[in-house]
Amino acid sequence: MAAAGTQILVKRYLSQSFYQTYEIRFQEDITVLDALNCIKAEQDPTLTYRWSCRMGICGSCAAVVNGKPVLMCQTYLGNLKQPVKIEPLRNFPVIKDLVVEIDDAFEKMRSVNPYMEHMKKKALEEGEYEQTPAQLEKLKQTSQCIKCMLCYSACPVYGFDKNFIGPAAGALAYRYNADNRDESKKERLDTVIGEKGVWNCSFVGECSNACPKRVDPALALQRLKLMGSLRLVTSLQ
Ligand code: FES
Repeated sequence: MAAAGTQILVKRYLSQSFYQTYEIRFQEDITVLDALNCIKAEQDPTLTYRWSCRMGICGSCAAVVNGKPVLMCQTYLGNLKQPVKIEPLRNFPVIKDLVVEIDDAFEKMRSVNPYMEHMKKKALEEGEYEQTPAQLEKLKQTSQCIKCMLCYSACPVYGFDKNFIGPAAGALAYRYNADNRDESKKERLDTVIGEKGVWNCSFVGECSNACPKRVDPALALQRLKLMGSLRLVTSLQ
């Protein structure tokens, strides 16, 4: 396979932001992350970005590439319009270069208690908390979230209003509220239908377009709206 040459423009942030251009030669089958690793090793050790697994699992290499929020380790250089422009995720404060501060989104995910709660604890000899394949199917899609923050970066509502609970937290809340084994659905629903909750979602769907795992947080948020509406109606009866 012949090597081609391209320019990579990286939006950097040190004391102020600026675009830096790097020239590289590459094979068609290298990813954007491979290209950055190559630049860091051979041209500029100060270039800063996150990555870990290189296989679309850890979610840490998220960035905006040619205007789209993507995982850099899953995006092939040969498929991109050139020169390639790489920027940090939108809607988050930048710490350095492509590294952003994501604590706010993690805090929102924590707020929905993203774990199974059993009000009636079973003794070990009583056996497992069981689930049928059909019950698993209801939540399987939303359980695939890798917390890469691409959905928060793509969401115009979160960009405008940082109080909004956001797509991944909504998807997580739905994942546990759709689980037959969980027993704290009411408390979780109270969080997501509260003032900062799901009602602000305008169902633009950019979060679902950006999701590399097809979690479909936009759909999860609409389902939570339905659960919340039913809850409000039944509480009035
Ligand atoms: S490096 Fe882990 S998802 Fe890209």
